[in-house]
Amino acid sequence: MQGAFVVFEGGDGVGKSTQAALLAEWLTDRGREVIRTFEPGDGPVNAQIREILLSRSTENLAPRAEALLFAADKAQHVHAIVRPALERGAVVVCDRYVDSTLAYQGAGRVLDMAEVERINWWGTDDLRPDLTVLLDLAPEAGLAGIASHDRMESAGEDFHARVRAGFLALAERDPARYLVLPAREPVTALSERIRARVAELLEGEHHHEVGRRGLLSALFDADRDPEPGEEVSDAPARLSP
Ligand SMILES: Nc1ncnc2c1ncn2[C@@H]1O[C@H](COP(=O)(O)OP(=O)(O)OP(=O)(O)O)[C@@H](O)[C@H]1O
Ligand SMILES: [Mg+2]
Repeated sequence: MQGAFVVFEGGDGVGKSTQAALLAEWLTDRGREVIRTFEPGDGPVNAQIREILLSRSTENLAPRAEALLFAADKAQHVHAIVRPALERGAVVVCDRYVDSTLAYQGAGRVLDMAEVERINWWGTDDLRPDLTVLLDLAPEAGLAGIASHDRMESAGEDFHARVRAGFLALAERDPARYLVLPAREPVTALSERIRARVAELLEGEHHHEVGRRGLLSALFDADRDPEPGEEVSDAPARLSP
């Protein structure tokens, strides 16, 4: 039996963990081995990286250092957890992956996103998800439920609007590998749609083939000028400085 790599993406508090847990439970009931994992921070080395990345006491973290730490987290996570599980035929259900890094770093508008993409796919040895479930939600709605914000969650509303646009742009570039859902549909309706898509994936033959398309190189092209009247929040090219 082949493994499959399913990733949940979206902003803070959209329901990723809720849906990941429901999917894992459903797959387990169907007799599959399921590994539930998350980024950043799963595993002992990763927990230390996560502490640096998310702690409010982290000051003056250079954007390039931040990008490398996220990529390092992924490198370790894929090496120690994700690949071994896929190789023995498990379904890996992961909370956040490369898209989160790209959407959040892209929204920060500091680094060249093609470069950030490159270090992340290098770090993961180009391990692409078979399916990414993107739970899409206006940032105000997601953040409202979170009492204590960490370093990332404390960023402004504009920032979170750009994160959302970044996620959607990533999904639009490779629709066959994404399921984009409105995050505030009822929990059970969402989980049914996710199950249907994962069932399709597990029955099909195309899962776990590692693609090598450089989808994001064009996406975050810093040199592109907006069209007249183009909405900035919907323009992925504007996510770069
Ligand atoms: N479809 C939904 N409709 C309304 N509320 C929901 C829905 N799914 C989850 N929630 C609620 O939203 C809150 C956040 O859910 P959850 O922890 O699953 O999100 P998350 O994306 O994992 O958040 P975080 O980014 O903080 O890890 C919880 O209170 C949860 O009960
Ligand atoms: Mg969560």
